[in-house]
Amino acid sequence: MSAARAKTLADRPRSLLVATVAGFLAMQSLAGFGYPGIESHSEVDEPPSGYFSSEQAERGRQSYESACGECHSLTEFKGEDFEWRWRRQTAWDLFEVITDTMPEDRPGKLPGNEYVDIVAYFLQLNEYASGSRELTPDEGALSAVALGAGAAKSPSSE
Ligand code: HEC
Repeated sequence: MSAARAKTLADRPRSLLVATVAGFLAMQSLAGFGYPGIESHSEVDEPPSGYFSSEQAERGRQSYESACGECHSLTEFKGEDFEWRWRRQTAWDLFEVITDTMPEDRPGKLPGNEYVDIVAYFLQLNEYASGSRELTPDEGALSAVALGAGAAKSPSSE
């Protein structure tokens, strides 16, 4: 094998590596620019009809049953018990407590949006209004939902 041919063979994997790294970096920056962040709403002027969608509450019910139901009874999360525990607090406080401390044996470990879905489920159990939008794991949105006796149960009645 000549020296020139050996060099060509040796260079090939390196240029491939360079191309791969360059491609990876390009994808990273694209992902950075393309990050959805806060979506713009097309229906800004329309008041939201509810705090969560019924599909979201249904997902929350399933998460609750698989991750919480073994230790808890649903009666803790609805009616007077719920109103008393969360009096003068908001859905954000509830969200923080369950995200930071539950499930007791693996705090913070539920995937995706399961915590906020469970909050949506608890709101549904307490007869808060559902609508077309989903509740988001966002402090501003969750703090706007008061809990406790006498709290507004739909956005429009606030
Ligand atoms: C392994 C058992 C276990 C699992 C699973 C579990 N919990 Fe708990 N949870 C507890 C115990 C025990 C307490 C009481 C802790 C305390 O008061 O210090 C508690 C307390 C709570 C409280 C009340 C906290 C407060 O400050 O009043 C909420 C709300 C709650 N759990 C929600 C959940 C949710 C939602 C899930 C599922 C994501 C869940 N828990 C899963 C055992 C569990």
